[in-house]
Amino acid sequence: MAEKEIIETSEAEIAVHWQEEGYYHVPLDFIAQANMTDESIYQRFSLENFPNCFKEYADMLDWYEYWTEILDTSDAPCFKWFKGGKINASYNCIDRHLAKNRNKTAIHFVPELEEEKVEHVTYQELWVRVNEMAALLQDFCGLKAGDRVTLHLPMVTELPVTMLACARLGVIHSQVFGGFSGKAAADRILDSGSDFLITMDGYYRGGQLLDHKEKADVACEAAAAAGHKVKKVLIWERYPGKYSAATPLVEGRDFIVNDLLKKYYGQRVEPVRMPAEAPLFLMYTSGTTGKPKGCQHSTGGYLAYVTGTSKYIQDIHPEDVYWCMADIGWITGHSYIVYGPLALCASSVIYEGIPNYPDPGRPWRIAQNLGVNIFHTAPTAIRALRKIGPDEPAKYNYHFKHMTTVGEPIEPEVWKWYYNVVGKGKAAIVDTWWQTENGGFLCSTLPAIKPMKPGSAGPGVPGIHPIIYDDEGKEVPKGAGKAGNICIQNPWPGMFQTIWGDRDRFVRQYFERYCKNPKSKDWRDWPYLTGDAAVQAPDGYYRILGRIDDVINVSGHRLGTKELESAALVVPEVAEAAVVPVADEIKGKVPDLYVALKPGYHPSPELEKRISQALATEIGPIAKPRKVWIVPDMPKTRSGKIMRRVLGSISNKTDVGDVMTLANPEVVEAITKMVQG
Ligand code: WTA
Repeated sequence: MAEKEIIETSEAEIAVHWQEEGYYHVPLDFIAQANMTDESIYQRFSLENFPNCFKEYADMLDWYEYWTEILDTSDAPCFKWFKGGKINASYNCIDRHLAKNRNKTAIHFVPELEEEKVEHVTYQELWVRVNEMAALLQDFCGLKAGDRVTLHLPMVTELPVTMLACARLGVIHSQVFGGFSGKAAADRILDSGSDFLITMDGYYRGGQLLDHKEKADVACEAAAAAGHKVKKVLIWERYPGKYSAATPLVEGRDFIVNDLLKKYYGQRVEPVRMPAEAPLFLMYTSGTTGKPKGCQHSTGGYLAYVTGTSKYIQDIHPEDVYWCMADIGWITGHSYIVYGPLALCASSVIYEGIPNYPDPGRPWRIAQNLGVNIFHTAPTAIRALRKIGPDEPAKYNYHFKHMTTVGEPIEPEVWKWYYNVVGKGKAAIVDTWWQTENGGFLCSTLPAIKPMKPGSAGPGVPGIHPIIYDDEGKEVPKGAGKAGNICIQNPWPGMFQTIWGDRDRFVRQYFERYCKNPKSKDWRDWPYLTGDAAVQAPDGYYRILGRIDDVINVSGHRLGTKELESAALVVPEVAEAAVVPVADEIKGKVPDLYVALKPGYHPSPELEKRISQALATEIGPIAKPRKVWIVPDMPKTRSGKIMRRVLGSISNKTDVGDVMTLANPEVVEAITKMVQG
């Protein structure tokens, strides 16, 4: 049996252990105020009305020139939405709100230290800051539409300011998660061909002011070693007027943004009228091969999709205070902290730090103090807060009308705690399933229309038509009780346009498997392969089981096993490396790393530590393995393939099954003894 099939079998097994739950009904006072209560929306967005249904989302935006063709399929599967339209994302997120809501808070910035003042940035203030930053990017850096810029910023107001300044000019931003290493930033600088890196001197994490600037030095060195010189590094100061990093500035390369900006005070930059299909940003994500993929998102289609879904699924009204606790360095933050909420003129909360600093009551204090009424987070955070502060929410006086979970499957027990304790039994919950590639939600209930079911994402959102295929490409019908590969039958405006610079990989990875005709220009022939396994219940709700490819979802972050393995191979003693996911109470999955050494080297705690550190250095602290197991040899097939399935079973203490067909069955026993004692 091929290795891949075995992985799929194990995914399907999860379905057996986890039974369907009963419905929960959304509170009536939520329904009474909801943006979308009309059931006919599903009819409006049915396949018969595709693609014209998405006009409804496009019409939530302001266009300089209205589009002439809703969907251009001539370059399938690189689909173009709202062709002929001219639009600017920065204008739609800021300028258009000024007439009525100039003095409304756009962003509440909450520093991690509670003794620091919360910043309330009005739409007017955001407009001023974005204009000045845009003027700087244009004049000081010479940036223009179509150029790429890498951002490596933490969770601070300066991040959306920089993103929106780029968007104002049509410059393509590529924000790298702040927790990622300088090396990871370098890979993304190289791949996107960025001449500029925008970063910050430091930021708070768990009460420590971290030196973030040092990562910029590592990034520039690594990029230079690969033949790409970063022309300038622009550094925001965490405390304007005071440089907070220990790492010195590099003469001629490093510049303090806060100083440079003084020259641009009061300057205004006309938003550039961008074609709807011009790229707005790149967001890198892990894939089945080692190299991260730059998911290229469009301006008009993306913005329309995140605005429409923020309105109907997140139920955002302009008077709401909305807090998504994700990091803007991930797609969730781009779509549902910055672009969607701001396009709807909401107040969006940005919290700098970790949820349990200085104690697990922090999120609920923030909610109480700011009057947050929509809350959005991931199962990993919910599990952690439930474990360390199960009684904390009850101590605070806040009221959530709506809550979201995103990023990985949520266990029904955890869902119920979220509903009863965090939501105090009074909030609508949506479990939103989607991916970096998708721009916005794929499956979720419409909160005022469909009941909630713990552990189930729900049906496709309006205009998204999922289908589950088995390995032969036959449809697995709803209620079959069988898992399969969940695909989407139709394109949608939020879907990424391509992998930056690698159209072949885009087609191969997402469409080849179930493509009906590779020459076709008809969207019906190009189902989109998500790479997740799922089952569909008789009521049409989808339960997502997890990835079927070599990606581990750690705390809701996708890490490619190949990326982790190649980071381990940077250590000179390491000959072979294999990463397997291990179930973890808080993080969902954590990587276990198995390595075999080159001849002549011997295991030691020091070496284990060095290997573990290599993953943190190459990728980031979230990639640190639970444990490094230095084994005498890897279990292998006769053709020499490492049997990750066997290692996975050993780490998870499940049955390894029949190993007699392996080339070296005896190592299985030795490794089991080592790991399980
Ligand atoms: C998983 C995050 C179950 C899934 C927006 C997907 C989920 C991957 C859910 C994408 C959910 C995301 N239920 N699984 N509600 N949301 N996933 O690209 O495996 O960081 O393919 O996008 O996370 O992760 P990504």
